[in-house]
Amino acid sequence: MHKPQGRIEGGWSAEAAIFLFAGLLAFGTLAWMEALHVNVLAVEVAAGGSHFVRDGLLLLPLSLVAALWAMRPRRRRAPGLLRAAAGTAIAFAVLLAPGAAAHTALHDADEAGVAHADGPGGTAALGMAQESHGLASTLLHGVTDAMLALPMAFLLSLGALALLRRRSERLVLPAAPRRRFVLTASTLVVAGAAAMVPVSGAASPDYPKFSAPLVIPAVLTGQNINLTMAETQEQLLPTGPPTTMWTYNGSFPGPIIRRPTGVPTNVTVTNNLPESAGSMTTHHHGAQTTEDSDGQPSDYLIAPGASKTYTYPGVDSGAPERAAPQWYHDHRDMVTGRNVWMGLAGAFIYDDPVEQSLNLPKGEYDVPLMVADREFDAGNQLLYPSPLLSNGVFGDVILVNGVAQPFHEVGDRRYRFRLYNISNKRDYSFRLSNGQPITQIGTDSGLLPEPVSRTTIRLGPAERADVVIDFADRLGENIVLENADAAFGPGERDAVVMQFRVNQDVTDTSSPVPPALRPLPATGPPVTTRIWNFDRTNMKWTINGASFDPNRVDARPTLGTTERWVFRNTTGGQPHMVHVHLNDQKLVSRGPIGDPQPPPPHERLKETWHVAPGEEVVVDIPFSDYVGKFVIHCHVLEHEDDGMMTQFQTLPSPSAPPHPPPATPGPAGGGPAGGTGSTSKPADRLSRRIRILSSTRLRPILRRGLRFEAAAPVNRATLRASLSVKGRRVASVRRTRLSRGRVRVTLKLSRRGKARLRRLLSVRRRVGAQLKVTAGAETRRLRFTIRR
Ligand code: C2O
Ligand code: CU
Repeated sequence: MHKPQGRIEGGWSAEAAIFLFAGLLAFGTLAWMEALHVNVLAVEVAAGGSHFVRDGLLLLPLSLVAALWAMRPRRRRAPGLLRAAAGTAIAFAVLLAPGAAAHTALHDADEAGVAHADGPGGTAALGMAQESHGLASTLLHGVTDAMLALPMAFLLSLGALALLRRRSERLVLPAAPRRRFVLTASTLVVAGAAAMVPVSGAASPDYPKFSAPLVIPAVLTGQNINLTMAETQEQLLPTGPPTTMWTYNGSFPGPIIRRPTGVPTNVTVTNNLPESAGSMTTHHHGAQTTEDSDGQPSDYLIAPGASKTYTYPGVDSGAPERAAPQWYHDHRDMVTGRNVWMGLAGAFIYDDPVEQSLNLPKGEYDVPLMVADREFDAGNQLLYPSPLLSNGVFGDVILVNGVAQPFHEVGDRRYRFRLYNISNKRDYSFRLSNGQPITQIGTDSGLLPEPVSRTTIRLGPAERADVVIDFADRLGENIVLENADAAFGPGERDAVVMQFRVNQDVTDTSSPVPPALRPLPATGPPVTTRIWNFDRTNMKWTINGASFDPNRVDARPTLGTTERWVFRNTTGGQPHMVHVHLNDQKLVSRGPIGDPQPPPPHERLKETWHVAPGEEVVVDIPFSDYVGKFVIHCHVLEHEDDGMMTQFQTLPSPSAPPHPPPATPGPAGGGPAGGTGSTSKPADRLSRRIRILSSTRLRPILRRGLRFEAAAPVNRATLRASLSVKGRRVASVRRTRLSRGRVRVTLKLSRRGKARLRRLLSVRRRVGAQLKVTAGAETRRLRFTIRR
């Protein structure tokens, strides 16, 4: 009459208990593992979690065995809880090691690649899908995974066993034959279920490749350009509905701005995006500007409904900037990845006479190709996973100028292509399917000293390559521009970029690429060396161990000097794209940390550097024109948004006043003062009148701060301003200016200041405020009222 077997006191069948226990173990451990793999969980959630369910089911048989082991009938008294839990966890981990290794191998070998590669980011986001694993590393990966899983498996087993023990003193399992049946049957059922989970649901919809023609965005050439950011519909995929995007002037990429260097260009950007998108900021990548035209991450923003005019002087040390394939894109702190993914990017090409004299292919034979990847849902809408996904966001569809894998009809002649990688995270290695060499003539920063013939060209995010491809004698051929670095593996959708159909017989009017193109600019000897470690610190992407803080400055170079900057990637697994605003940089060496190698011929002068794990890139950077704060950051946009960004502040040269920005000529008497030694200017006065430009009502002040205009009295003066209400300071700011003349400053309230102002104005309608501005030895005070 003893039939306690197969039941647990309180009426559960032991099978149910085993399944619950095993399920908890499988899915709980998987969630932990994914969370450990930096935010993969967030991707899973964004992609509907199908891959998570499938992997959890795959783990279930392992955890079933472990659970059975823990609950096996014991002759003598049951072991202590701790020992039972430890035993279960170890059993689970031992089974997991080969399982995880097999799973990795499966990912490597997976022919259905895209379908298997879990949606936006997914394995690719781990940075591991980029390369295939060897056998040793696959096994090692399995063992590491098992070790990582162990603590969580232990905690989960402990919890589950403690709960079950409260039900029954002895956890007794079904008799052996029944147990074997339960195990076999459930394993089969679970495996079947796992196979049926439609993981492909996370991949973008299918479409025929090379079915839509390449599109060239509109070209704007005027001195005064208007860009309007708005939510618009773009036909990115050749089939199905259009995609909702955030664009400049209703196209993705935005219009091509094409301008001569040496003369200023004014670009007025209006933010008509939905208010929920927040403030925006537009950065002209590669340009030298004053700090207020640089598109800073958290300053000089364009509020919803507002406009801002950026001025690009187009000069470097008084001479025209070098012609270069530059671009513009949003740069808002913490959401740049999202904003660019949504479509806020476009080309800005500078031309100059030096380059034009070379008679390279021009007009319709000079084609910008802006390459970006995106992930789509079943309704053709963009999927941007959680901003928590700090490893970087991938998509499985490659777009060129906003068209998925287009074709382009070309003539049998030379073409100049400006290859841009405007992706958030993805690297490409461009090559031609017929093995034909590509002549690289330039980089991010314009023409190389000599052309370089290459068969593959790797570009990381924000890098550009200016190339010439000769289709002479290729009439009738279809040549594919391939990506030899496909994240989802060779043969996959992302291994193909676009197709050239050589179907026109034309005469070539361009000259062959000459053997000498353009000498590098001269730079002085470096006065200091600074090391920038691109790190991972406390689960964040950092530079020299610190996250971005708009109030911190990490270096203060002096205008007129050159510095040697060392970029080191001290993190494992992920490349970083180091981008420095303001001046271009000359490559000194590139190599493993501590083992510098001479610069490769195809990257001599640039502003965006691919720095592989364990690599060190050394550059010389001449600081020429503008005083102010500028950023340096990783151009993997999700790394940047996570905080891999910092600021340097250029200081005025003590010996010679630098060139004033030509676009905003100050009062008479500006320009190079000629002599050396700073002479004090008696006529320098702080302007009488301080003019408040923004609203003086509570709400806008809380939201946007107080903006005012003053005239700085002294060249290279530091201007300090503070705002107080009822005798207490609520905001202050310090600004170092290049030249005298008008200064526009925004005072942002501190958190304390906001609270104080809110408190004061909750009991009265108005409150007296004082704005105090100091420059040089002079101070001005302005009293006004802030109203509710
Ligand atoms: Cu293209 Cu600071 O960015
Ligand atoms: Cu990075």
